[in-house]
Amino acid sequence: MIIEELIEKAREAKKFAYVPYSNFPVGAALLTEDGHIFTGCNVESASFGATNCAERVAIQKAVSEGYKSFTHLAVVGQEDYTFPCGICRQVIMEFGPEAKIIVAGKDNYIVYEAEDLLPHAFTGEDLL
Ligand code: THU
Repeated sequence: MIIEELIEKAREAKKFAYVPYSNFPVGAALLTEDGHIFTGCNVESASFGATNCAERVAIQKAVSEGYKSFTHLAVVGQEDYTFPCGICRQVIMEFGPEAKIIVAGKDNYIVYEAEDLLPHAFTGEDLL
């Protein structure tokens, strides 16, 4: 099943997390609308604000290779659930406004609608 596969890929990607400052590794995996999987891990910087979250790394990898729309995105942090941060929620709404967001803990996961994680999102429509 795709959800379990994405969680497994996110767990694998988490192993590459570069987290010398937080020691808080996170992995993410997304499914594009045409069936490709992209993964990401968090990549920190000594200038903390330059840190990239796992979710955004996965999205940016996909978009930079021509895949601008995703339907599912799984996030794996620690044993407890790790929810996408506010900046990631904004980026999720840009490229996966109707996506299922899978937040996975050690043994369980919860599936959210992207829109429920960022209600009343500011989107490109607002700029028209
Ligand atoms: N982080 C993520 O990669 N994704 C999340 O959903 C939450 C936070 C990262 C950013 C930073 O490297 C570390 O977790 C601690 O904030």
